[in-house]
Amino acid sequence: MKVAIYSLKKYERVYLEKANRSKHDFLFLEEALSPQTAELARGCTAVSIFTNDDAGKEALQQLAKLNIKSVATRAAGYDNIDLNEADDLYMHVANVPEYSPYAIAEHTIAMILAMNRKIVQADRQVKAYNFALDELIGFDLHGKTVGIVGTGKIGSIVAKILHGFGCKLLGYDVTENQELISKYGMEYISLGKLCKLSDIITLHAPLNANTHYLINKENIALMKKGVMIVNTGRGGLVNTVDALQALKEGKIGYLGLDVYEKEKGLFFYDHGADIPQDDLFARLLTFKNVLVTGHQAFLTENALTNIADTTIYNLDCFEKGERSIHELTDKKSIQTTS
Ligand code: NAI
Repeated sequence: MKVAIYSLKKYERVYLEKANRSKHDFLFLEEALSPQTAELARGCTAVSIFTNDDAGKEALQQLAKLNIKSVATRAAGYDNIDLNEADDLYMHVANVPEYSPYAIAEHTIAMILAMNRKIVQADRQVKAYNFALDELIGFDLHGKTVGIVGTGKIGSIVAKILHGFGCKLLGYDVTENQELISKYGMEYISLGKLCKLSDIITLHAPLNANTHYLINKENIALMKKGVMIVNTGRGGLVNTVDALQALKEGKIGYLGLDVYEKEKGLFFYDHGADIPQDDLFARLLTFKNVLVTGHQAFLTENALTNIADTTIYNLDCFEKGERSIHELTDKKSIQTTS
């Protein structure tokens, strides 16, 4: 089966080719899927996309016109895919729900530690032969209260690691994880209370209509002065304008972002030679207490292997007319490709 692989990054190719074992015929594209680039997949039976591709209504309709009936996203999150439209188009959509929750959880911890212990600044100072410690004071994580928003696969691993540090754990989720309560002392409370009581707030909920701008000026106002906020979930969980204002007022003491609400077209590319266009993002980068990584929390060898293996599995299922266990659409019956 011919498959257009959108948004291919050099580092992924070897993992995809290894998992594929020459079964499918890949058309590698650096372009992201959009209504304008859907045409590039002409002649293919399926497409594979990544987090910042636009698989909205229009792009899916364009793919359907090309008789493309399968979208395999190489990501866990699928807020960029119009699933209702896919259903209406009898299109199969599958994701990689669990490629390595450890990768994202561990990156979250890396961000917390790096911000707290000022690792980036320390490295810069030492390389400039400045060994003064005045600017590098951190705090013990032991005994701190951490609010975890979204205690699913990633959030629960973050909880377990932080339990090991001796943190008190607060959780906000639409469903409670009993194991976290009984084994790790997690206390589920409202978002408002979590904001009031937490020294550190880390976001691991999916982005949807209920979670868009979950962190905004109303609940930032409830937080402790100097709070640390970490977002390795999705950019849209945080109202960045509100967060910027709170940074200016010293209300937010540390902001760690692996995702950013306007990251599309910015993250995943080398813009080193371009004139910066996003003033909000440029302003964020002026703060010493803001740490940004460009959506790399998932980026471990283990995760890339699992992403490739599951994507090939999803494509294999579609080709065989079988339902993938990771299928996200459910209304229509399975149709084979041939
Ligand atoms: P999951 O589905 O296992 O957990 C999500 C949790 O959020 C669930 O417990 C769910 O009940 C909860 N939730 C849903 N709606 C909520 C609401 N309105 N309020 C509070 N909690 C709510 O997902 P997983 O694997 O833990 O991933 C979480 C998110 O992390 C993904 O949706 C994705 O956006 C993001 N992610 C980021 C990556 C990165 O590289 N930065 C990589 C992979 C995922």
